[in-house]
Parts: sequence; C-alpha cells; structure tokens
Amino acid sequence: MGSEPKLSVLFTSEEIAATVSKLAAEIRQDYLTKHPILIGVLKGSFMFMADLIRLLDFPLEVEFIRLSSYGGGRESSGKIKVVQGLRSEVRGRDVLVIEDIVDTGLTISFLLDYLRKKKPASLKLCALTDKPSRRQTPVTIDYRGLTVPDKFIVGYGLDWDEGFRNLPDICILEGED
Ligand code: IMP
Repeated sequence: MGSEPKLSVLFTSEEIAATVSKLAAEIRQDYLTKHPILIGVLKGSFMFMADLIRLLDFPLEVEFIRLSSYGGGRESSGKIKVVQGLRSEVRGRDVLVIEDIVDTGLTISFLLDYLRKKKPASLKLCALTDKPSRRQTPVTIDYRGLTVPDKFIVGYGLDWDEGFRNLPDICILEGED
C-alpha cells in the first residue's frame, strides 16, 4: 500500500440522516398504499436502503440488483450488465430504485431501461447523492438527496476499490478526481 489516503468530510452522518428522513417523508406520501418494491443497487446502496426503509412505516418489499461497474478505477466504462438479478416479479408493480450516487448516469439509465422492459406499473428513482457535473446522459431523479461536487466520494456505502464503505460520513477522497 502507498501513503494513507486523505479524506475530508463532505456530509456528516447527521446531515445524511436528515436527508434520509426528508427523502423518506417524500416517498411515504407517494407510496403509502402502493406496496412498492424498492430495488437497491449493490453494493453502494445497502446502507442507505437499510436506513431509509426503517423510516417507511407501510408495506413494501426489498430487492437488490447487482450491476457490473467501475472496478477499481473511477471512470464508468459505459458497458454495464446485470451480475445478480431480481427474485421478485416486477411486472405490474410500483418500483422504486434506490441508488447511492448518480454520476455519469450511464449505470442508472441502463438499469431503468432494463426494468422498464419488465413492464412495472410505475418506475421511479431515488438517489442519495447526485453529481450532475459529470452527467453523460439525462436522468430524472424523482427523489434526490445531496448534490455533490465533481470529486470522488466515499463512505456511507460508497467505496474506493472496495474500501471506505463503512465510514459513517460521506468524505471526499482527496487526489482521486
Ligand atoms: P455512473 O454510471 O457514472 O452514474 O456511476 C454509477 C456508479 O459508479 C455508482 O453506483 C457508484 O458505484 C460509482 N460511483 C460514481 N461516482 C462515485 C464516487 O464519487 N464515489 C464512489 N462511487 C462512485
């Protein structure tokens, strides 16, 4: 290993918790009677999903999907595939995708197209963080949390080469942008 990476806190765990509460309130209003399927995109969304659903006091199902993405580097290849698929039938269901971050938008666009083909009753996107400065394809984020600058961020589920997911804050990994 080289020298210790330098981290600086971008959003504290308190700020993240307030954002998750805000998103949960918005989602509750729209899905209270719909028995939606929430689909988390692995691995980055696991922590957000766990905190979010504990604030949703109505019937729902939880699924996860795993897509191939970055590997160890930062650039999205744009070549995305489903590595681990869904167990539930989404046809005719109200589906809400739960993402950690929308960066170029390539990953989530792929996933939304993939799910749309399965004919859900509705399909919406909730993203904890949004890095709009790097967007390569337009994405509608129905429930948007925190806007992040053009920096590489880690923590609260987000990784750099599988590290730092366990940080309670969201931090900028200095020198990686
Ligand atoms: P996109 O296809 O460029 O939008 O990238 C989506 C995926 O790339 C996310 O689900 C993350 O796994 C990863 N990613 C993008 N930006 C960051 C970042 O700043 N930190 C950690 N992971 C990131």
